[in-house]
Amino acid sequence: ADVFTFDPGFTSTAACESAITYIDGDVGELLYRGYPIEQLAEKSTHLEVCYLLLYGELPTAAQLADFTQRVTKHTMVHEQMHYFFRGFRRDAHPMATMVGVVGAMAAFYHDSTDINDPWQREVAAIRMIAKLPTIAAMAYKYSVGQPFVYPKNALSYAGNFLHMCFAVPAEEYVVSPILEKAMDRIMMLHADHEQNASTSTVRLAGSSGANPFACIAAGIACLWGPAHGGANQACLEMLKEIGTVDRIPEYIAKAKDKSSGFRLMGFGHRVYKNFDPRAKVMKESADEVLGLLGIENNPLLQVAKELERIALEDDYFVSKKLYPNVDFYSGIILEAMGFPTSMFTPIFAISRTVGWISQWKEMIADKNQKIGRPRQLYIGPQKRDYVDLRHR
Ligand code: CMC
Repeated sequence: ADVFTFDPGFTSTAACESAITYIDGDVGELLYRGYPIEQLAEKSTHLEVCYLLLYGELPTAAQLADFTQRVTKHTMVHEQMHYFFRGFRRDAHPMATMVGVVGAMAAFYHDSTDINDPWQREVAAIRMIAKLPTIAAMAYKYSVGQPFVYPKNALSYAGNFLHMCFAVPAEEYVVSPILEKAMDRIMMLHADHEQNASTSTVRLAGSSGANPFACIAAGIACLWGPAHGGANQACLEMLKEIGTVDRIPEYIAKAKDKSSGFRLMGFGHRVYKNFDPRAKVMKESADEVLGLLGIENNPLLQVAKELERIALEDDYFVSKKLYPNVDFYSGIILEAMGFPTSMFTPIFAISRTVGWISQWKEMIADKNQKIGRPRQLYIGPQKRDYVDLRHR
């Protein structure tokens, strides 16, 4: 019989070669194409990071202008899409709507199915980066019963997203530069993270040669779960449930008790066993943004900081190397911006789109690319003969 390596959860299996993102979990380092995340978060912009992840190098001014123009050309979605949104219940989770709508784009862009044509792959990538914010904003508008807001291409990528979410026809909406910068930073911090569950899902779906929009829809479905991108929503809901600093020990005790089934959301990571560098930047950003908005005494931020402090002094969390991850502080910023918790994971999805599509493009262009096909250790019954119904 064949002998296989048994690796449930892929804790030690490299399934591909990739030149996009590097993580050193022991020292807490994250590099996009070699550039440290801290430097990018401070100095770059999300669209520039998109270019970097897609093409491998930072753009020149002319390349960035051209890329921006190519992306903004595709920010609108087909008018017919509006009917598709209207088929959902108003109280649908925006992630459910996004899985459906992004998958449906495969029906609008038939040419993308020709994945062997590099030009079609390029156009699909640009469309995806351009349209995901529009789709997420439409899902939000639909859920609150407001009219859809068309994209405004003169705005930045992050600014336009805020505009599509918060503008209403009745009055002028001016994007706050503080919120715009904070949103752009959140997008950069989430842009790629090598072979995480949703990216591996996109690669696996794409390895059969499927339409890229369908593959990204699969990635969105995977991201939704609370162990992955859904953790940002779950984390803020947990912080709200805790409510006050004096209740933290109760929740720490619950997280340590395996029979409770409860975990500290926004804590722990498969790869980072020191700290998550994104969480560090996010924490600083939360301080800065709430300070600039004049709400630095936000009770949720106080609960989060105290929870982090207590957990990091607790043997359970220390011995298991559990640190706050990217999802721990992001929700506090997003809530301060005015987003409901249900929009947190869609914002993660918009941001990760460039990572998914860059990895998908890299895979399709890889000469060694094969269909992803894990094996198993069979533990079912031995071969046996069928028993006729009357003898059972
Ligand atoms: N609270 C309490 N205990 C935890 C936690 C937590 N958040 N995370 C892990 N543990 C324990 C776990 O019970 C296990 O204990 P033991 O060895 O005694 O059985 C040990 O730590 C190792 O955990 P694991 O589940 O085997 O580790 P993993 O690498 O399979 O899971 C994880 C990683 C992120 C899914 C997990 O830490 C978790 O569920 N965290 C909470 C959800 C979360 O914040 N997810 C966001 C991940 S970061 C970005 C993203 O993808 O969105």
